[in-house]
Amino acid sequence: MRPLLAEDVTQAYVDGLNDRAVNTFLLGPRSSRQTIETVRAFVEQNQQAPAAILFGIFKAGRHLGNVRLHDISQTDAWIGVAVFDTGEWRKGLGSRCVARAARFAVADLGLERVNAGIDRHNERSKKAFARAGFQLAHDGRTSAMSHDGEHWVYTGRE
Ligand SMILES: CC(C)(COP(=O)(O)OP(=O)(O)OC[C@H]1O[C@@H](n2cnc3c(N)ncnc32)[C@H](O)[C@@H]1OP(=O)(O)O)[C@@H](O)C(=O)NCCC(=O)NCCS
Repeated sequence: MRPLLAEDVTQAYVDGLNDRAVNTFLLGPRSSRQTIETVRAFVEQNQQAPAAILFGIFKAGRHLGNVRLHDISQTDAWIGVAVFDTGEWRKGLGSRCVARAARFAVADLGLERVNAGIDRHNERSKKAFARAGFQLAHDGRTSAMSHDGEHWVYTGRE
């Protein structure tokens, strides 16, 4: 995992974002068709944003997905993940990378909490976040990403 650069944007990444299986629960990519230009612009925006870190997930040099910390404040951040290549799902990649980014946020950035807004129908994602140490928060706070979202939280404590 490393910060993603505009030059990392490939057609495979763009095609992954446009794949219904991948983008069903991703508000941005689902709302309009992605192109090399729109995705490069997104990566550049994140590079310049002081309150966001966009990590690319790489295996043997191949870009397979992203984990993004965003809305980073002094205490909290929000996190999102997508593995673009569905052939790489169910191998533990998503949960491992979410766990790594969440640990980084708490241990290195000194945050108290990492929040995830997960659509309640996104069973894969809920499992991946649970596996990464997130717990469902029962605070009635719903996701900014989905009206049908659940709020999951990581504090670094079991
Ligand atoms: C969510 C996502 C990142 C998970 O990535 P992944 O690499 O498959 O995750 P993992 O392999 O670490 O774990 C997935 C878990 O879901 C389970 N799972 C996989 N497919 C499933 C399915 N169809 N139904 C239910 N559970 C499923 C796996 O068995 C695993 O659970 P386990 O801990 O019991 O073994 C990936 O599916 C994805 O990119 N989805 C599209 C984008 C998205 O929805 N992002 C999340 C937005 S909040």
